Amino acid sequence: MNEVLNVIKRRTSLRRYKNAPISEVDLDNLLQAAVKAPTAGNMMLYSILVIEEQNTKDILSRTCDNQPFIATAPLVMVFLADIQRWFDYYQLQGVKEFSTRKGLKFKGPDLGDLFISVSDALIAAQTVVIAAESLDIGSCYIGDIMENYETHKELLDLPKFAFPIGMLCLGYYPKDYEPQVRPRFDREYIVFDEKYRSLDEGELRKMFAERETAFPRDNKFGAANAAQFMYARKQGAEFAKEMHRSIEQALKNWQGMDI
Ligand SMILES: Cc1cc2nc3c(=O)[nH]c(=O)nc-3n(C[C@H](O)[C@H](O)[C@H](O)COP(=O)(O)O)c2cc1C
Repeated sequence: MNEVLNVIKRRTSLRRYKNAPISEVDLDNLLQAAVKAPTAGNMMLYSILVIEEQNTKDILSRTCDNQPFIATAPLVMVFLADIQRWFDYYQLQGVKEFSTRKGLKFKGPDLGDLFISVSDALIAAQTVVIAAESLDIGSCYIGDIMENYETHKELLDLPKFAFPIGMLCLGYYPKDYEPQVRPRFDREYIVFDEKYRSLDEGELRKMFAERETAFPRDNKFGAANAAQFMYARKQGAEFAKEMHRSIEQALKNWQGMDI
């Protein structure tokens, strides 16, 4: 098998790190890889915040749904869906006047801009994940960076048209690390030929059979099956309410309003 596939296949999320900073050379390689990622129209609608300050990591470990391991990562990267620079440049270069002259409506970033920027940011993030793994640097995504929008905006000096869509904790593998391989659903339930196909009851039962065997029966939610357990842990959890609230706040900036 080729080396890239090997790297992709061996990756698992790493939440315990060797107590050593990421070397300058490795960090430079990670960032070189990131900026090579494809972006819509080559506009690079993202920014990366490289965070090593302990105080900031401590705060993030609390604001991202209280996950203490975040503070132990030598380096954290926050990926911003970011169209601020382009709109600053549009302003600088008279795009508003030009649009009025040409009968184009000039408006601020809208939901399409947000989703495209999110795509750019996450593709860059995953490029870092793969590059990191190839350098023996483990990583873990933190989706909870989407919570507490107002706090993160202030903490990280975010402008109006930049939204933190993902965060990566990065660090070298500790010496005694045993990778924890997490199962995947069978491909037949995820990949379809040509057109989408909804799964029938029998397929759903088969798809989730392994999860039903593995979920903890004596869980704190009183959940009787894997579906109830996951809903209580994810969609029904407090963090999910905060994530919804936070994103709703941020979305107000992306409605194509007059600027
Ligand atoms: C968008 C996204 C958000 C995630 N957020 C978290 C998180 O907040 N905390 C965490 O410990 N892991 C987080 N993860 C890691 C997942 O739990 C992990 O990828 C999944 O369980 C599969 O395990 P594996 O990456 O080891 O194969 C996140 C992963 C993704 C892709």
